[in-house]
Amino acid sequence: MKYRNLLLAGAVALAATSAQAREVRLCLFPHSATRGVDTAVARAVFSRMALSYHVVDLGHALGDGALAQPALARLLASRCDLFAGIPTAAGARPSGAVVATQPYAAFDFVEFALPGAASGGAVAVAYRTPAQLIAAESKVPDFDVENTPDAVIRAVAERRVPHGIAWAPSLLAYQRAHPGVHFTQQATHSRFSTWQLRFVGAAREKALVGRISHTIGALRRSGELQRLTAPAAAQGTADRAPGGAAPQRTAFHPRPGWGFVRVAATPTAQFAAAQVGPGRKVYAAECARCHGDKLEGRTAPALVGPGFAPSSNSTMTVGGIFQYVTTNMPADKPGQLKAAQYVDVMAFLLHANGYAPSGKAMTADAAGNDTTAFDSFVK
Ligand code: HEC
Repeated sequence: MKYRNLLLAGAVALAATSAQAREVRLCLFPHSATRGVDTAVARAVFSRMALSYHVVDLGHALGDGALAQPALARLLASRCDLFAGIPTAAGARPSGAVVATQPYAAFDFVEFALPGAASGGAVAVAYRTPAQLIAAESKVPDFDVENTPDAVIRAVAERRVPHGIAWAPSLLAYQRAHPGVHFTQQATHSRFSTWQLRFVGAAREKALVGRISHTIGALRRSGELQRLTAPAAAQGTADRAPGGAAPQRTAFHPRPGWGFVRVAATPTAQFAAAQVGPGRKVYAAECARCHGDKLEGRTAPALVGPGFAPSSNSTMTVGGIFQYVTTNMPADKPGQLKAAQYVDVMAFLLHANGYAPSGKAMTADAAGNDTTAFDSFVK
């Protein structure tokens, strides 16, 4: 045991010298409601590790602000060594192409309203965010889907919708920017309610990520982490320049779906990459007229994204969907495609939802009996 510890200490020391030779490039979401926390924790972590770093200006690199896992991997391959402030669902174990530290903060999605709002009525949620999944999971009877978290909060603040579901840091940022507005809040209870913030790095940064994880542990034990991530400290002040300049108010404009990525290994399913192209053709000819060119839903439901088959809907399996499609679809000529066409279109559906091919070709028998969970929230 002693011997092993010694070896481990040696490895850590080696990693330390190689990491210290450079300045770590740190990416942050430019408009995240947790930017204050992310900045403060990064400063504390790097100062304790005596490592120098600089924040990379992402400019427009994030496009509309949404960041899917492939885009995150690309940024980590080219522009930064580490990304701070990546929200991951509590319990999700990051793996695959990226490595993540232990979480340094956790914030919940809350249901909120103006004081005195009627109970009942519609709940506003932002499209393609965890709020939408939470509303679906808690069987909210009537929800109003807005395009952005910002639009959700405004809809409630302007009394167009009585209730909303939003991430606590976004609400806090809104209230700070609008000191007259005060919302009442209550917890939501779903597996998507709590999102933890971590540092995420490319696999090559495993040693650095491990050391940061230890440092987060040390900051937590000393009580400093709790001080840095307390909601009251969460915004504004943490952006203070090292020289002690006046706190800068964090601007409030979360973008559509920013930042909520599922940091986990890409799931695989039994199909071959060669089946995806033919499946795409079947889809275009036989399914797109109702389900949309991009599977976004038209007269028929979307076949991608959180509204289709989120992992909270445990009844969705590859086999279940395959059987449903082969007997009921296309809705205007059910069951009338060739077996091979159904197989190929199923491979395409898996691909479009972010599954990687296992390499072994899908067959009708294998697909019908496949109990792999189909989770359309993988991208
Ligand atoms: C003529 C329109 C139409 C065509 C063409 C069509 N569908 Fe559908 N599809 C629907 C409708 C409508 C529903 C919803 C049925 C319901 O809710 O009972 C549906 C439901 C589904 C569902 C279940 C969605 C869910 O959320 O439960 C899947 C999967 C599906 N279709 C796949 C396909 C595939 C694959 C094709 C092409 C081979 C196809 N559909 C072609 C109209 C169509």
